[in-house]
Amino acid sequence: MGRLDGKVTIVTGGAGGIGLETGILFAKEGAKVVILADISKEALAKAKSKLLQLVPDAKVEEFVCDVSKETQVQALVESADAHGGVDVMFNNAGIMHARDDDAIGTPEEIWDLTQNINVKGVWFGSKHAVLSLRKHMKTKGSIINTASVVALVGSATPQLAYTASKGAVLAMTRELAIVHAREGFRFNNLCPAPLNTPLLQDWLGDDVAKRHRREIHFPMGRFGEAIEQAQAVLFLASDESSFVNGHDFVVDGGMTKAYVTPEGSAQAPPVNNASKDSL
Ligand SMILES: NC(=O)c1ccc[n+]([C@@H]2O[C@H](COP(=O)([O-])OP(=O)(O)OC[C@H]3O[C@@H](n4cnc5c(N)ncnc54)[C@H](O)[C@@H]3O)[C@@H](O)[C@H]2O)c1
Repeated sequence: MGRLDGKVTIVTGGAGGIGLETGILFAKEGAKVVILADISKEALAKAKSKLLQLVPDAKVEEFVCDVSKETQVQALVESADAHGGVDVMFNNAGIMHARDDDAIGTPEEIWDLTQNINVKGVWFGSKHAVLSLRKHMKTKGSIINTASVVALVGSATPQLAYTASKGAVLAMTRELAIVHAREGFRFNNLCPAPLNTPLLQDWLGDDVAKRHRREIHFPMGRFGEAIEQAQAVLFLASDESSFVNGHDFVVDGGMTKAYVTPEGSAQAPPVNNASKDSL
């Protein structure tokens, strides 16, 4: 028995990072179908073949979708109708723009772009998941929305638009959780710490000082890995978390609980499934 046997799942931002690792775990745990959605067609094709390499009998579909466009999100969710409608919706797509800055330096267009993808995208995904669950007369469903630790703690390295967007996700998800609780539709937040995924690592580049500015705050001495977030999402997606609702699931190696961090060598990270060549 897989932990997601028979469940129809959608993952946005599914072409890489947390999304792809989650899609792989969903498939391994018996999801009836995994629909990977992303804005990048090329990355999606690669992600699908990686997933099938690791889980050859998986039912996986790719769907090109810009989550900031409601018609595209609606089409994405309705594509699950062919399988009986969505059971698990992981609204995970997000951006952190290179020109995001502090209150003075953030261009208005970057503010708007960030809110459109990171906040409206999560709203549209949540809305159409609810409409689909109702249409298919489902009595339970799990929606997981990706926020961030920056929604919980302040950072002296500013990305104001990004931080505001993740705070909005956190609050919106909490309200959705309460509004829909008696329909059986659970909403939870995932709050990742800084990770070893392209979103952050491309932005940090070779800037050692910028990197160190973050590493000093990590109790375990390292960035998180996408697979570590995916494991948390799997729990929230499964019926094992049936009484977990409106929760801010912080997966951060203790970062938001730390005052003075330890010294010494960093803990070794786990290996992401997508980094493995084969089973
Ligand atoms: N990496 C971190 O340090 C970190 C920390 C906290 C939260 N997060 C959040 O985790 C989520 C996943 O990020 P990741 O680290 O896996 O990064 P990632 O860049 O590897 O993945 C993000 C994916 O979203 C896709 N995407 C971007 N804009 C889109 C759009 N408009 N419509 C559909 N897809 C779009 C990208 O193509 C990419 O595949 C994001 O919401 C991010 O804000 C990341």
